[in-house]
Amino acid sequence: MTALTLSTAGASTLRADALVVGVAKGPKGPVVAPGAEAVDAAFDGKLAGVLDALGASGAEGEVTKLPAPAGLKVPVVLAVGLGGVPEKDESYDEEALRRAAGAASRALTGAKKAAFALPLEDASAVTAVAEGALLGAYAFTAYQGGDKKDAKNGAKLPLAEVALLGAKPRDKDHKAAVERAKIVAAEVNIARDLINTPPNDLTPEAFAAVAQTTGKEIGVKVQVLDEKALVKGGYGGIMGVGKGSENPPRLVKIAYTHAKATKSLAFVGKGITYDSGGISLKPAGHNETMKCDMSGAAAVFASVVAIAKLGLEVNVTGWLALAENMPSGSATRPGDVLRMYSGKTVEVLNTDAEGRLVLADALTRASEENPDAMVDVATLTGAMVLALGNRTFGIMANDDAFRTSIHEIAEEVGEASWPMPLPADLRKGMDSPTADMANMGERMGGGLVAGLFLQEFVGEGITWAHLDIAGPAFHEGAPYGYTPKGGTGSAVRTLVRLAERTATGDLG
Ligand code: BES
Ligand code: MN
Ligand code: ZN
Repeated sequence: MTALTLSTAGASTLRADALVVGVAKGPKGPVVAPGAEAVDAAFDGKLAGVLDALGASGAEGEVTKLPAPAGLKVPVVLAVGLGGVPEKDESYDEEALRRAAGAASRALTGAKKAAFALPLEDASAVTAVAEGALLGAYAFTAYQGGDKKDAKNGAKLPLAEVALLGAKPRDKDHKAAVERAKIVAAEVNIARDLINTPPNDLTPEAFAAVAQTTGKEIGVKVQVLDEKALVKGGYGGIMGVGKGSENPPRLVKIAYTHAKATKSLAFVGKGITYDSGGISLKPAGHNETMKCDMSGAAAVFASVVAIAKLGLEVNVTGWLALAENMPSGSATRPGDVLRMYSGKTVEVLNTDAEGRLVLADALTRASEENPDAMVDVATLTGAMVLALGNRTFGIMANDDAFRTSIHEIAEEVGEASWPMPLPADLRKGMDSPTADMANMGERMGGGLVAGLFLQEFVGEGITWAHLDIAGPAFHEGAPYGYTPKGGTGSAVRTLVRLAERTATGDLG
């Protein structure tokens, strides 16, 4: 990953390929943001005027490259838009800083070293800029350059090194902020790699092996149930989804513990390594990106690893429900009845509603350990994408306060989310004449129906929330801010902050 350091060097003495400054959108044109005073001085105090003349406004996402004047030891100055100038006594919005830093990193793809002279008023601004810079510098190149002609098929490598100017390398809070940002960004990028890895390589078995290797490296216990153990254990949901595939399913448990922990969390991730829909096959146009259907499991895995690396005082167990949903002679048919791990029977009316089946077993299993709270993360329904769009995940819960907390936490870390209800009247749509329930209900409110299905498998008295990340997990449009094309690592930052808040007893 891109290297990141806090530097005490002045903007006019540092050697780099580019100097990044912030520009805000003032009422009368662009305004140079704090942190860039020395750069502005090198422009004889006329940087804002130059930017104005070039047509820059300071709008969010705007990137303007200009040749550096004599007096700076860099060839290029890159001005990134921060949006509106903050009110008096307020600081720049953290998410605006995170996105601006990400846009700068992306614009500097191929460069070796860049100095960032953005406004760093406090430790949380340091975290935001560091995270943005590291997340924006992400590229998935593992499958490029196969012909060896050109290193990566001509694709430039991400920005290699970032020096943050204006932070205080000896300040305890700033140091911790940057260390935290490095760990979190590295793990978000790991989640992205897992999501982007094609499904012929990232099978359930391969994903489980990654978890085992990482677990050994960082001293976190990983246990894997293979298909034999799943059959023996009665995991009818996970087996029912996975049995149509040549690549058998897995249930992975990754358990981080801290000796002083007083609270425990369980994270449960949907890990469908490829969702063809099964016998209820998805039509062309709906299956090209379905390698992303393990994004929930990727987020759970990456966040537990980040939490372990941060050494948080809380016990966190991650459960990865891994299966490939394929049609074949051994696949579950629409009409089959599965006996779930909980004992409940489920009539499978649509094999494309598979996420809830694997999650149900994992939720029941996770509940056996009586966590203080449980959160599942899943690319669960197209309906949630219709409701909230491509950038916002839905939050459902069996506890209003917990749902509100998660919404606030997501907001705090810069992840867009929205609280959604679990209307009890939608439950009867899943009544089955044959089994205890069906895996499908009314089409209207399909995201909430899926949430109600999951709720049936949450242990008595356990506080639970469900994050439907089907929209934001995989970004198909042009990159923006620190968000690349492909896997985004959605929900990792929210889960990590939830663990931090749980550790400090500060859940609001
Ligand atoms: N993995 C899909 C949901 C999805 C859709 C994720 C778009 C990401 C982007 C899920 O397994 C699915 O197919 N859900 C069905 C459920 C339906 C059959 C009840 C859906 O949403 O159409
Ligand atoms: Mn599906
Ligand atoms: Zn799916």
